[in-house]
Parts: sequence; C-alpha cells; structure tokens
Amino acid sequence: MIPARDRPSVPVGLRWSAATSAFQIEGARPTGSTGRSIWDDFLERPGAIIDGSTADPACDSYRRPESDVALAAGLGLDRYRFSIPWARVQPGGRGSGDRAALDHYSRLVDRLLEAGVAPFPTLFHWEMPSEVEADGGWLQRDTAERFADYATIVAARLGDRVEQWYTLNEPAMTTLQGYAVGALAPGKELLFGALPTAHYQLLAHARAATVLHGHGAASVGLVNNHTWVLPLRDTAEDHQAAAVYDVIHNRVFSEPLLAGHYPDLEALGLPPLPVRDGDLEEIARSIDFYGINFYNPTTVTAAAEGSPIPFDIVPTPGVPVTGFGPEWPIMPGALRDLLIDLHTRHPHLPPVIIGENGASFPEPERAALVDDTDRIDYLSGHIAAVGEAIDAGVPVEEYTVWSLLDNWEWADGYTQRFGLVHVDFETGERTPKASYEWYRDLIARSRAAS
Ligand code: NOJ
Repeated sequence: MIPARDRPSVPVGLRWSAATSAFQIEGARPTGSTGRSIWDDFLERPGAIIDGSTADPACDSYRRPESDVALAAGLGLDRYRFSIPWARVQPGGRGSGDRAALDHYSRLVDRLLEAGVAPFPTLFHWEMPSEVEADGGWLQRDTAERFADYATIVAARLGDRVEQWYTLNEPAMTTLQGYAVGALAPGKELLFGALPTAHYQLLAHARAATVLHGHGAASVGLVNNHTWVLPLRDTAEDHQAAAVYDVIHNRVFSEPLLAGHYPDLEALGLPPLPVRDGDLEEIARSIDFYGINFYNPTTVTAAAEGSPIPFDIVPTPGVPVTGFGPEWPIMPGALRDLLIDLHTRHPHLPPVIIGENGASFPEPERAALVDDTDRIDYLSGHIAAVGEAIDAGVPVEEYTVWSLLDNWEWADGYTQRFGLVHVDFETGERTPKASYEWYRDLIARSRAAS
C-alpha cells in the first residue's frame, strides 16, 4: 500500500484553509475586570485545566499578528479561519464596541487581504463575556438578541471587506461539554437540562446571519462538529444508546438548519426544546453553507441501569489513536461515511465546508523541526475521504486544517499540539513542521490540477 502521504490523488477545485481561534492563540488577556470572558473565569477553577496553565501568552498572536498572516500566506491558503472574541470587542456584552479591539481586527483583515488570503472570521468561538453568562448565558433566549447586537458592531466595522462569516463554532460542544457535563466553560453540569442552549445558540446564529447579510455578507454559515456514532455491540440496547448520542451530538444541531425541524426528542425520552412560533423558519433560512468539523468517530454502549444518561462513550476497538489516546480514535473513513449519510438524509444540502480537521500528537516543547509523519498521515487520510465523498456527489467546497499553529487546547492546556507550525510557548518562536511543507505542496498540486 502506498503510504497516505505519497498518495498521488488530491481533490481538485476545493478551497483550502487553516484555522485558529482567538482565545487559543492571542494571549494579552485582560488584567482587570473589564473584557473578561467565561474562559478567563473557568481556567481559574482549581483543576479545570489539566496542566494548570492559562491562555497567556499562548502564541502571543495579539501582539504579533503579522507572523501568523505570513504563515497563512506561505501555505498559499485561499482563506484563513480565525475568530473574533466577543468579550474583547464588546466588553461586558452591552453597549458600543471597543475601538482598539475593532482596530486590531480591522488591521488583521487588511493584512490578510494584502497577503492574498481571504479572511473568514468566526464570531463565537466559545468566548462569551462573563457578564452575559452571569445573566444566564445560552440558557437565556435574550442572549440571541445580545449576540445579534455584537454581530452588528463587528459587521459595521468589517463588513465592507469580509465576505464570508461563521457565526458559531461547535454549538454542540458548548451545550454538551460547557453546560451538560462542565468539562469546558462555563462549567455547568445540567445534563439534559442543558438542551435549551442548543436552541438559543441556533437562534442567535440565525439573528446574526440576518445582521451579516444586511451588511452585505455574501456567505454566512456556522460550523457543527459532527461525529460518526458506532454502537459497541450489535444489540438493541447499544443501537438505542447510539441513536440517543447521535441525536444530541449531531442531529439536534443539524436538522433545524437542514430540514427545519428538531429530531423527535420525546421519542427518545429527552425533554422538549423551548421553541416559539417562527423560530424554526428563521433558523432554516439562515445558512449559505453548512460547516462541519470532524475529528473522530464515537463508540457508545448502553449505560448501566439507573445511570442519569443512557449511554457510555468507550474506546473504538482496533484503530490507532491521536495524542489524546483512546478518546480520539483515528478513522478517516468515518468522515466519508458521515458526509454521504448527511447528503442522503438531506439531498438538497447546501455547499459543505470542512471547518476543522486535524490531530494532536506528542511533540517537543522547545522550538524544533518536527517531522510529524503521523499528522501528515492523519490529514491525507481525511482529505482522501473528502475526495471520496465528493466523488459520491457530496457538495464539499472547502477543507480546513486545525490548526495553523500549536495553541492552548482549552481544558487540556498546552498538552496537545495540533499545529502545522510548532510554537515555543516560552519564546513565541514559530517553526513550520513537515506537515506545513506537505500541506503547502498539496495546495499547489491541487491548484495546478484545477
Ligand atoms: C474544536 C474546537 O473548535 C477547537 O477550538 C479545538 O482546539 C479543536 N476542536 C481541537 O480540540
């Protein structure tokens, strides 16, 4: 078999991108009480972050955006996916925008355009102002209005130059990890009581999409993280557990956008969502493209009798794993299968953008030339899977690597490196890895073949 990295075929006609998010790379966190986000609060909880680290300085990108733009341009990217932090741009989540912060992102947009890379910002990559969370966060319907207000501030400043926008990043993770089990900010443990946050996030997305379109946006969507759910055993109990997990991780977030309704939660014994008349029509009209982040499949089995949730997530048997260990199995074919399955369920799927795909592996902390063959294998396997889905008729238009840079991996701190570029977190030094050169060559080959 030809090693994945040497496979000759590369999908042609795709746009190529790489991604980061503000909190994970920027550093320069607020020193006082103004401009704090839920992540500034969450990381102060004892034991919340595995290595006890903070996101400062992370990659120090707020102070050196030019080096990130140069790295993005050096890859030959069509677009660079980055995020704009709500708490920095509208401290406290009310009132007018912060001029210095807006100037910063305006300059970043200009730098990207000058470098020939289209800016593709995300408005919400998990950084809610602390004050919005104190008022109820995504458990409150009113947060959708406040998010639209923030979107108005950003669109008024950048809408003349930014054509494509993501509203939300991975609302499922906010609901499941942030509000249901508390592994991510804001660290609530509401179990199924977290489900209203799914609806209010989708509503917020729809309201923000209307704002962005009103400011001339050509293309607006959000990015859902999909997983491919596998029952551990071929039993009725495990199939039922898999069905519940598929609903709460994937279908609650995809079906309102793609089909205009929620899956039947009641049939699975789950609580109903706080939907008002008109909400679903608004959500269903709201996307020009459908974003998908994909990392790994999820294997589930039925939980023991009396457990508060009906499934347990278990290691996927017989496959290699990433730096996270059995939590993150590697199965590129799962990406092909889920894309084809989604297209079969929704034949009128809008253009699909892979908004993130990538893997962490154990790598040195000091600046070093990293020969990350494991990452190249992971990425090329998944890009090949995207190619197979395209051949089967799925309208995928763009592929994005997570991440351009090693960065601060949320509750996992600095322990997981995902970058195409190694970052020395003490000096800020950036050193492209072998995967950076490989991705640059792949982009060039794909373009030459188009
Ligand atoms: C998805 C998130 O959007 C991103 O912030 C995170 O770092 C990657 N997954 C890897 O876990």
